[in-house]
Amino acid sequence: MCGIVGYIGNKQASEIIVDGLSKLEYRGYDSAGIAVVNDNDTINWAKKKGRLAGLEKILAENPIQGTVGIGHTRWATHGAPSDVNSHPHLNSAETLAVVHNGIIENYMQIREILTEEGYVFKSETDTEVAVHLIDKYYEGDLLAAARKAVSVFRGAYALGVVSSEHKGELVAVRKESPLIVGIGEGEYFIASDVPAILKYTRNVYYLENDEMVHVKDGVLTIYDGNNNVVEKELKTVEWDIEAASKGGFDHFMMKEIYDQPQAIRDTLLRRLDEEGMIHLDDIKLTKEDLEGITKMYIVACGTAYHAGLVGKFAIEKLAKVPVEVDIASEFRYSDPFIDEHTMLIVVSQSGETADTLAAMKLAKAKGARVLAITNVVGSSVAREAHDVFYTWAGPEIAVASTKAYTAQMIAFYMIALDFAYKKGAVIIERYQELIKNIEGLAAKVESILANKDAIEQYSKDMKDTHNAFYLGRGVDYTTAREAALKLKEISYIYTEAFAAGELKHGPIALIEEGTPVLCVVTQDALEEKMISNIKEVKARGAFVIAIAKEGNTEVAKVADDVIYIPVAEDLLMPVLAVIPTQLISYYVSIARGNDVDKPRNLAKSVTVE
Ligand code: M6R
Repeated sequence: MCGIVGYIGNKQASEIIVDGLSKLEYRGYDSAGIAVVNDNDTINWAKKKGRLAGLEKILAENPIQGTVGIGHTRWATHGAPSDVNSHPHLNSAETLAVVHNGIIENYMQIREILTEEGYVFKSETDTEVAVHLIDKYYEGDLLAAARKAVSVFRGAYALGVVSSEHKGELVAVRKESPLIVGIGEGEYFIASDVPAILKYTRNVYYLENDEMVHVKDGVLTIYDGNNNVVEKELKTVEWDIEAASKGGFDHFMMKEIYDQPQAIRDTLLRRLDEEGMIHLDDIKLTKEDLEGITKMYIVACGTAYHAGLVGKFAIEKLAKVPVEVDIASEFRYSDPFIDEHTMLIVVSQSGETADTLAAMKLAKAKGARVLAITNVVGSSVAREAHDVFYTWAGPEIAVASTKAYTAQMIAFYMIALDFAYKKGAVIIERYQELIKNIEGLAAKVESILANKDAIEQYSKDMKDTHNAFYLGRGVDYTTAREAALKLKEISYIYTEAFAAGELKHGPIALIEEGTPVLCVVTQDALEEKMISNIKEVKARGAFVIAIAKEGNTEVAKVADDVIYIPVAEDLLMPVLAVIPTQLISYYVSIARGNDVDKPRNLAKSVTVE
């Protein structure tokens, strides 16, 4: 987790770094800090527990001058959020400063050795060993000292290092934690993610594992893990800066909810040729490859996992391959049965989720063909996978995932349909019909959004509750699970989703007079069963809000309220059914006075195990 920004050039570093950090707060916001080498060849630093605004206040009162610096926004792993645990960390002479993202797993051993040697630690962080170890190895060459220190570390990390004795230098390294280098006019940037530097440059190098960056006297050199100079391809970032900002909405989450029709269109339409056939450019699987696959796993975390559950329905129904879906943190330790006939699909908006990345590496090592569905070009999962499907949802900043989820579902429909067609499991007429139906979802999402004020009313029924329940059957149960996750993570209301048929085996004991129960009822074959389940909870005092297809009059007879959504074929209904639940979560969170985009205890990108 955590966000790193670094600058070296001829402008004031502090402003650029703080601006960059403001774009990275989604990575963590427990504390923020900065260290700048000033003209007197000393390091000036400031750091503060809490949001970036706290650091900005300090800098407004005591500006820091200098053209080389590093900054950090933290999501605490080792040591509680506090001023002293904030980054940057400095050596005792304050000649070296380090910012760090990730975890140095063997930091305890290193700390013990350094302590015996007389190094004094101020913080509880793993990061502090980095600065002291570089100090220990320093013999006049900053790069060599950093390189030697890094060779001792185990774990996942990205580091930025500056020294008052090397005013014209910046050193950085990437291992399993994302880091990019931006190239400006006579200036260089390092950052954990593109939005941090987009205002200044679109030209970036995406670092690979173990690559080390050295800027010295205006010259950038990148080394691989064996200390060989590497020539990397400079990439141009196509994102619009506006796409990475709120676009007139009060919160990123609402903007991103509204981005969904476009995300559906972009993810689908750019992959259709003039005949309306799907072309998955970064997926090289042939008909023969597909026929050789006897089993698929879909592995992901959180919302991406829920998209995987929808993916299972689509792939099994269309491509007729058995699919197991697992949570990445479980899968990686479950000794899964994998052979060369296994395909693993990983789903990750950020492409940097540590458990997902580890799961895919495990499956790859066991011989599986690995396909990644990710939103971030050049992300770790994209680079590690054999095949990639990029969801073109645009940058997702709010911690609560919305448009990435929708785009991931579209990705699964397309993959399932493409595989089915290649295998001869679907006829052309059905193929064309389904593409038309997927395309039609964008306008249907727009029509639900146009009804958002009516949906806001339901937040009044939910905002003061201590708990809430979501029910569904079949693929509606998946929607219920995603909806429950969304409500709990931004409202802090205890919310649980249940398979409606399972209720009478225990969970129904939780229903009391007035308990809000939101029921998703979009699957024709399961409608009668759901109506029975609604009656059961109503009989125990629940207040039932149902989400149902337009024209469904039966559900209205049993529920207290019904949110009607447009009709699509059942397989595609999760894309529509989730939209009202996103809006409800958003409005409940606002009504409770929460920080919608940055809910407590969470970070956007979970790059630690
Ligand atoms: O970047 P990823 O898709 O791998 O992230 C996975 C989860 O951490 C993420 O979906 C999380 O559950 C969201 N906060 C849910 O809104």
